[in-house]
Amino acid sequence: MSKIVLTKADTLQGCVKINGAKNAALPILAATLLANEPCVIKSIPPLADIENMCEILKHAGYQVRRRNTTLSIQPKPLKNLKFPYELTNKLRASFLIAGPLLAKYKHLEISYPGGCAIGARPVDLHLKGFEALGAIISKQNGYIEIFTDKLTGNKIYLDFPSVGATENLIMAACLAEGQTVIENAAIEPEITDLANFLNSMGAEISGAGTDTIKISGVKDLSGADHRVIPDRIEAGTYMVAAAACHGHVTVSNVICEHLKPIIAKLRESGIEVIENYNSVTVNAAERFKPIDLKTLPYPGFPTDMQAQFSSYLSGIPGTSIVTETIFENRFMHLGELKRMGANIKTEGRTAVIEGAALTGAKVKATDLRAGAALVIAGLHADGETEISDCQYITRGYYQFYENLNQLGANIVRID
Ligand code: UD1
Repeated sequence: MSKIVLTKADTLQGCVKINGAKNAALPILAATLLANEPCVIKSIPPLADIENMCEILKHAGYQVRRRNTTLSIQPKPLKNLKFPYELTNKLRASFLIAGPLLAKYKHLEISYPGGCAIGARPVDLHLKGFEALGAIISKQNGYIEIFTDKLTGNKIYLDFPSVGATENLIMAACLAEGQTVIENAAIEPEITDLANFLNSMGAEISGAGTDTIKISGVKDLSGADHRVIPDRIEAGTYMVAAAACHGHVTVSNVICEHLKPIIAKLRESGIEVIENYNSVTVNAAERFKPIDLKTLPYPGFPTDMQAQFSSYLSGIPGTSIVTETIFENRFMHLGELKRMGANIKTEGRTAVIEGAALTGAKVKATDLRAGAALVIAGLHADGETEISDCQYITRGYYQFYENLNQLGANIVRID
């Protein structure tokens, strides 16, 4: 269990460079299971979630080598198609191996991914889609067994534009016979990145980035070289940290288009955000206003930024209203913020935040983004904040404390 201690940062100043997106890298690593030849994936930081996904590829028998932020994945004779709880419980995205393995090897057994802190996170949409392609599913002793003689393209309508289900079904459909059409598909940038990678391996996918994705099955897929897109959530987190601390921070290696909802909400709150070619500069003078926000699928406001904004808004005078529509239990950080003096009332999925000056306290990270939110709270709270269970934070942010300290924060690890 790792811990940090931090004190108020009067300002944050300087430049921070964003890494490749964890949530783009994870499905792309799963997709390398489809390749008949080596793949080289660039711009992948060594985060715990990524390393856990690499362990899963190795368990299947593939060879994975890292050189700095480049991963080389080489197919080798298959060792395992059964993935135990000890491997899959470490990250929800482990379930993304189901689509590629089903497509290529026609069979797998994977420990049920289960719930997590932010909600139950079922995989029913993934499974319904696999069945529509011709898979048979059986659930026993905590495992889901998925097998087929042959996958055949079909029309699949997703009841909700699930990111993971869209990714899994694209990967399964790549080697299915005939055409698959996924309707009400997720349109997150990470989906487009996955489709671009698969197309460079020889897949035939069109419409990624829209709600109708068409996949014409091909016989096999070769290897490919790919650089993953920058992490829009990592970028957004530094932008909000800068906003909360009256900062002047340039966040580089970003795709501004992907940051639209974050930029819009910061501007609405009175923060100046300057968009450059591949960077954004946040200038946070004393013009903060409370705002309302509601999480929605892309291009709506991302649920992965809700906790960080809630933390920022807790310190802005006036009433802000935050509504979480994606995950049913994503307000756990609010209890911790209240320990720091935040004035927040929740009713169902809505939080009413009356801005108040925060004071440092002992708090606990309950998940990745909740942890980042507490770091932001500690940066604008008076006095000292101690955050425990910080292992969640380093699952998604590479050199987070080092980067913030370079900008002027004072964060000390007490591992
Ligand atoms: C991905 C992201 C996560 C982000 C989320 C929403 C990765 C590795 N993770 O998670 O950071 O917060 O998108 O933007 O990319 N649902 C079902 N049945 C299903 C699948 C999902 O009911 O079969 C529900 C979930 O419980 C949740 C909602 O749909 O309430 C959104 O989930 P989904 O879009 O699938 O998120 P993930 O892919 O798990």
